[in-house]
Parts: sequence; C-alpha cells; structure tokens
Amino acid sequence: MLILGIESSCDETAIAIYDGRSNLLLSHKLYTQIKKHSLYGGVVPELASRDHLSKIMFLIKSSLKESGKKISQIDYIAVTVGPGLGGSLLVGASIAYAISYALDIPVIEVNHLEGHLLSAFLSEKNLTFPFLSLIVSGGHTQILEAKAVDNYKLLGETLDDAVGETFDKVGKLFGLLYPAGAKVALLASNCSSSDFYFPRPMIDSNDLNMSFSGLKTSVLYQFNKINKYYDGNIPNHIINSICFAFQEAIIDVLIKKALKASKETNLDKLVIVGGVSANLYLRERLAKLPIKVFFPNLKWCTDNAAMIAYAGFVNLKYAKKSLEFDVIPRWDIFS
Ligand code: KG4
Ligand code: ZN
Repeated sequence: MLILGIESSCDETAIAIYDGRSNLLLSHKLYTQIKKHSLYGGVVPELASRDHLSKIMFLIKSSLKESGKKISQIDYIAVTVGPGLGGSLLVGASIAYAISYALDIPVIEVNHLEGHLLSAFLSEKNLTFPFLSLIVSGGHTQILEAKAVDNYKLLGETLDDAVGETFDKVGKLFGLLYPAGAKVALLASNCSSSDFYFPRPMIDSNDLNMSFSGLKTSVLYQFNKINKYYDGNIPNHIINSICFAFQEAIIDVLIKKALKASKETNLDKLVIVGGVSANLYLRERLAKLPIKVFFPNLKWCTDNAAMIAYAGFVNLKYAKKSLEFDVIPRWDIFS
C-alpha cells in the first residue's frame, strides 16, 4: 500500500512516499522557506502560501521519481489539514483533493501534531503504546498520554509561549535569524555552566501545565542590563553563558514535568518530538532519567512529510477517519 504524504502547514513544503506493506519510506523531499522568512523575523503567512504553491508540484514529481513509482500507483494521499496557517494548509489540502478527484485516490486528513507524536516510530522499532508524549515545537508544548493511534489525552501544556517560540524570541535578542532555536543551542554548547540564573516558571505547580513567557522576559531584562554595561558590544562568552542558562531553565522545567507525568500515569516511556527534540543537550539530559526515553531521528524532528505519510498509514490501519474536506487551523489531538 503506497501513501503519498503532503505537509505544508507552516514554512516547510514536504512530500513523502511511504510503503505501508514493507514499512519503508521510499522517498522524502523537503523545501524550506526559512531564508525567505528570516528577513522578517518570523513566518509571513501570505508569503508562505505563495511559496508552497510554487514548489509543491515540483516536489511531488521529484518524490515520485525518487521512489520509482507513478502517481497512478499511489493508494492513498495523507495530507496535513491542521493545525497550522490557514492559507498554507489550503495549498497542501487543495493539491491533495485535486489529485484525489482526478485519479480517484482517497485522502486521509492528518493532524500535524499527531504526525509529530508518531514520528518516533519511523526510527524506533521497539516503541509501543502506551507512552507519554512531550511535543515541543515552534507552536506547541504539550504533554500527552498516548494510549493508541488516535487516542490521546492531554495532561498539560504551556499556558503562553511554546518552547520553540521562546528559543526563537531569545535568539532574536542576540541578533540570531529566525528560527533561532538550533543557533541558541549551538552557542549554549560552548559552556558547561553559567553564572546566570533564570526563573523556572510553574516548575513546582501542582499540575502539568507550563509557562515560558516570564522566562523570556527575564532574559530580556538581563540582556538589556548587560547590553547597557557593554555599550551594545556584549562579548561572545557572555552571550554563550546566557544561552546556556536559558536553555538549562527550559530543560529543567521539561524534565520536572515529564517525571511528574510519569509518576501520575505510571507510564515509564517518554517520547519527545517536535523541532526542539532535535536539541542535543535536551537529549543528553533526558537520557540520564530513570525512565525510557525515545526520540525521532534528527531529520524527523522538524516539520516533514514522512511523519504525515506514516500517520496517515497507521490511522487508516488502526483508526477510522472521516473523509470530509476541510482545513482546521487550530486542532487538538486529544479529546
Ligand atoms: O516542529 P517544528 O519544525 O515546527 C512547528 O511545528 O512549530 O519546530 C520548529 C521549532 C522552532 O521554534 C525552532 O527554533 C525549534 O523548533 N528548534 C530548536 C532546535 N531545532 C529546532 N530549538 C532548540 N534546539 C534545537 N536544536
Ligand atoms: Zn511541526
């Protein structure tokens, strides 16, 4: 069974072809719009939709070529229909339904967050349900109990900024281009300790919710103070040290909440997914925990279509999906 995966929810246009029978990814193509949006310090929705439109057909053709398959051999089309930017989602969904109509291929509508949640299965052959999932991306920070495909319970989430968004905003202070998460992590990797200390909001709250906007503001105040002291020329080792302390604060919160969730649910498997799960220091710290931690392969942490094709496949296999056509810019995966 061949699944064509289409992802266009934000600033990455991605196409994949997944063979469900042999559990093999036959092809993956990705075009990132990052350079275009970097100039504006964040994603510009109108530019994003236009860029998806200009690249998507080329990517579909080259993905088919790489897989050695013809479009007529595709059995299902799995497409992200939310959450994400409305215009961007419509590009992927419209192409999916156009191909569906022309060639009579059914469409499976996929939740982008479920794609992330399931992305670890692409490389972790020993992973099985149930498990705890920590989704840490640019737009979301959620802890869920993943009971089975299409059966997720929200345990906690950020009440304000997402972790990736916080990394991006802190990086911006230091003049790092969007998306700044990996760049902040790289600067932090030059240190193994720091003289700076930032607050860990809600770390001891009674629930599994989180908050990161206060941390971001605290870094901003510290930055302004130091920037004034150094007359706008903060030495690199100070910037590295601030990045380290900031990253440490984020990771302390994530670890504390993950352990609390494990204790409350009696689940000892934790799956970390989404763009921030590419953070090597986060992986290093999590690997030391007394619970089993799974990560996606680095290339499947940020947005991609392999996870969408795979999510479409397992939803078809294990869950019932509606075939109504719509895009859902805000869409939770828990009920
Ligand atoms: O999952 P993703 O590709 O897109 C969304 O669905 O939001 O996540 C992108 C986010 C960005 O905020 C980016 O700065 C962050 O993931 N990110 C990182 C790292 N790599 C990507 N944050 C921290 N450390 C990293 N190594
Ligand atoms: Zn994403």
